[in-house]
Amino acid sequence: MPPIDLRSDTVTRPTSGMLQAMMRAEVGDDTLGDDPTVQALEERMADLLGHPQALFVPSGTMGNQICLRVHTRSGDEVIAEGRSHIFNLESGAAAGLSGIQILPVPAVRGLLTVEQIRSAIRERGNVHYAPTALVCLENTHNWAGGVVYSVERVRQIRAFVQSEGLPLHLDGARLFNAAVAVGVAPKCYGVLFDSASVCLSKGLGAPMGSMIVGSPDFIVRARRYRKMFGGGLRQVGYMAAAALYALDHHVERLAEDHRRAGRLALGLAEVPGLDLDLEAIQTNIVIFDVGNTGIPSAAFTDYLQQAGILASTFGPNRVRFVTHLHITDLAIETTLHKVHEIVMTHTPRRTVSV
Ligand SMILES: Cc1ncc(COP(=O)(O)O)c(C=O)c1O
Repeated sequence: MPPIDLRSDTVTRPTSGMLQAMMRAEVGDDTLGDDPTVQALEERMADLLGHPQALFVPSGTMGNQICLRVHTRSGDEVIAEGRSHIFNLESGAAAGLSGIQILPVPAVRGLLTVEQIRSAIRERGNVHYAPTALVCLENTHNWAGGVVYSVERVRQIRAFVQSEGLPLHLDGARLFNAAVAVGVAPKCYGVLFDSASVCLSKGLGAPMGSMIVGSPDFIVRARRYRKMFGGGLRQVGYMAAAALYALDHHVERLAEDHRRAGRLALGLAEVPGLDLDLEAIQTNIVIFDVGNTGIPSAAFTDYLQQAGILASTFGPNRVRFVTHLHITDLAIETTLHKVHEIVMTHTPRRTVSV
């Protein structure tokens, strides 16, 4: 039996329908502008996100970093949430590739407010500060547990950031999850940003790739930085065909991933010693704290692995499960059963002092 792989929604393999779509793809050298399937995907994504143009890029990290590069100059500062992917999980790329620094602003459940952004913007003209050049939001927020910004909150942030003359970027690695959770079209979010990156290889289930969207000028510059960062691709229409298939078949079904994550969270909340913020479980990510069981997260995931379940650790006490295309209702029930067994078997006996 293959393990129940809840480490991430990036672990999915192409379905047979997707593989067939890839086999049928018409391809060409994309760096020379010759790949019709990539062009079809770029047009489709631009339309879905309400932007004039889109660009296929190899990964979400490269998508974000190209956008940072286009929006900033060396020595600038970018505002992002304290647990954001751009700040924590992109290998220092903002400094390494663009010579900029990130100002991390911690926010409740990862969602920035207008007030927090207002206080983070540097005083203009004061030579001591790196000039604020960009504000980034992450939707859904990965480290906060798949939490979703409401469209209204983003609209308020948009109005404020625009009044400050600053651009707004969206790390929308899981934007389709956010849109499905809220029940709006992705462009309801998309149009509120100057640029956005979205991942094809996460909940959508494509083997690789991300897209960035923006104005025609933005995409001209982004295309050049994609090349500079080593992301010029050739017959990548095979991957674009997988993504087009995913847009046709894997968007609405994200609601099933969310329903299963909700069921998982409710079940975990009943296990003695496990703590989780049920209000934060809004999409396909479930992060829970094992600290009160006395089992460190690394040992917890080892026990899970022995039971045929794969999960990620988030620091010494937190464990993350992510639902996706290959996770069934039965897998959720099996996971809950095994988690219960692990906690009952391995929680150290407390000595009660009187
Ligand atoms: C919120 C967020 N942004 C960006 C990325 C980066 O995507 P990639 O792994 O394709 O570089 C991830 C990946 O997990 C993510 O969760």
